[in-house]
Amino acid sequence: MSPLLACSGLTMRFGGLTALDSLDIAVGTGETVGLVGPNGSGKTTFFNVLTGLYRPSEGAVRFEASDLFGRSPQEISRAGVARTFQRSRLMLDQTVFDNIALGALGRVDLGLLPALVFRSRFRRDLSALVEKATALTRRFNPHIAASLFKPAGSFTMIDRRRIEICRALIGGPRLLLLDEPSAGMTHEETRHLMDDLLAFREEMPDLAIVLVEHEMDVIRRISDRCVVLNFGRKIFEGAFDALLADPDVQTAYLGGSQ
Ligand SMILES: Nc1ncnc2c1ncn2[C@@H]1O[C@H](COP(=O)(O)OP(=O)(O)O)[C@@H](O)[C@H]1O
Ligand SMILES: [Mg+2]
Repeated sequence: MSPLLACSGLTMRFGGLTALDSLDIAVGTGETVGLVGPNGSGKTTFFNVLTGLYRPSEGAVRFEASDLFGRSPQEISRAGVARTFQRSRLMLDQTVFDNIALGALGRVDLGLLPALVFRSRFRRDLSALVEKATALTRRFNPHIAASLFKPAGSFTMIDRRRIEICRALIGGPRLLLLDEPSAGMTHEETRHLMDDLLAFREEMPDLAIVLVEHEMDVIRRISDRCVVLNFGRKIFEGAFDALLADPDVQTAYLGGSQ
């Protein structure tokens, strides 16, 4: 069976710097891949290239039957790829609902003209979106669902992360890219967020996830398979237990000291 996502020879150069060096990465339907590597190894760049923020220098990106190489972020989102960002991208003074609804743009037509011309359809679309946002946030924390029209900035760090994940999920993606979701959270909060993700994954067994994470505990708990990057190159692919024992991975993490 062909994978959901298949990147081959994926290369991204910034001037003289090769941030992604001929990467071959495949992700199957429903699979959770842990993507790790030292700082600057290309993890975020991989997401930026996959989601169309950067046009790759070379390579191929296939997603289901589509060729996503060099496509726009909107096209890629419509194809079913969604992400969260390493640094929070929430509009803190806007409501939770407004933040989450942004994730549906391009999928639901909320443009002004259609809204004026097709008022009843617009109202229907909007209330369907509210229902969906309520159901999604409730899965993570009923308190968020009950406060959908409060500013995102009034929530705790972990709830803000949950809101960001809901924004990524509202369009019904097939592939979810999570860039260091536990960054800035306490150990306890990280554990809760991972519990959420595990529960969520059970409800959506077809959703594929690529998770960038520094906390090895998190990677161990939720990855089916791991990929390690170093200087934009894939230096390891396999099970978590084998990762820890791999000499190349150990050297990458110890830097020049070996
Ligand atoms: N827009 C950019 N312009 C120039 N260099 C970049 C850009 N984005 C990332 N890089 C470089 O690419 C390399 C990989 O960065 P990044 O993907 O952010 O690493 P990671 O997420 O693994 O910490 C780094 O050397 C970084 O400085
Ligand atoms: Mg990064």
